[in-house]
Amino acid sequence: MPTLPPWSRMTIQQGDITTFAVDAIVNAANTRLAGGGGVDGAIHRAAGAAQLQEACRQLGGCTTGDAKITLGFNLPAKHIIHTVGPVYSDGSRNEAALLASCYRRSAEVAVENDCRTLAFPAISTGVYGYPFEEAARIALQTVANTLQMTPTIERVDFVFFGTADFERAQAIYADLSARG
Ligand code: APR
Repeated sequence: MPTLPPWSRMTIQQGDITTFAVDAIVNAANTRLAGGGGVDGAIHRAAGAAQLQEACRQLGGCTTGDAKITLGFNLPAKHIIHTVGPVYSDGSRNEAALLASCYRRSAEVAVENDCRTLAFPAISTGVYGYPFEEAARIALQTVANTLQMTPTIERVDFVFFGTADFERAQAIYADLSARG
C-alpha cells in the first residue's frame, strides 16, 4: 500500500494519553527520567510506578531534546518513548530547536524500534511553561517534516488534555496542513 502524505497520517485528539493503544506513547519527562507530575506522573501510575521507575533507572537519564524508550508495562501502549522538553524562559535559549528535537528524536527512536503508531502529548506546555500556540505549531510542523522521511510510521496522534488546547490545536492543524 502506498504511504499516505504526512498530514493524512496525523490526527488531533482529546483525552488521556495513558488510554491510547498504540505502539508507543511519548512521555514529557525530566532529564533524570525520575517521574514527576503532569503527564509523566499519569504515565508512571498507569504503567506501574515501580517497574517503570526501574526501567528508567537503567537508562541513566536523558538530555533535553533527546528520547529513550522503555516497555509500556501495564499500559495499553506497547512502549513509552521518554523525551525531555526544554524549560521555557524567554524564547532566546534555543527552546524552539530543542522542542523540535524532542519530536524528531522520538520519531527516530520509534522507527528504530519498529513502532508504527505513536501518540504525543503537548511537550513542555505544562510545568515547563512553553506558550501553547507556539509549541503546538512546532510540534505539528516538525512531525509533518519528519514523516516525509519515516514511511514506516503509519499514524501519529497528538493528544490534548483540555478542550481549549484541543480546539486550538485543531485550528493550527487546519492552518498548517493547508499550506502543505
Ligand atoms: N494525557 C495527555 N496530556 C496530559 C495528561 C494526560 N494524562 N496530563 C497532562 N497532560 C498535558 C498537560 O495539559 C500539558 O499540556 O501534558 C502537557 C504537558 O504538561 P506537563 O506534563 O507538565 O509536561 P512539561 O511541561 O513537559 O513538563 C515536564 O513535568 O512532571 C514533570 O517530570 C516532568 O519535570 C517534568 C516536567
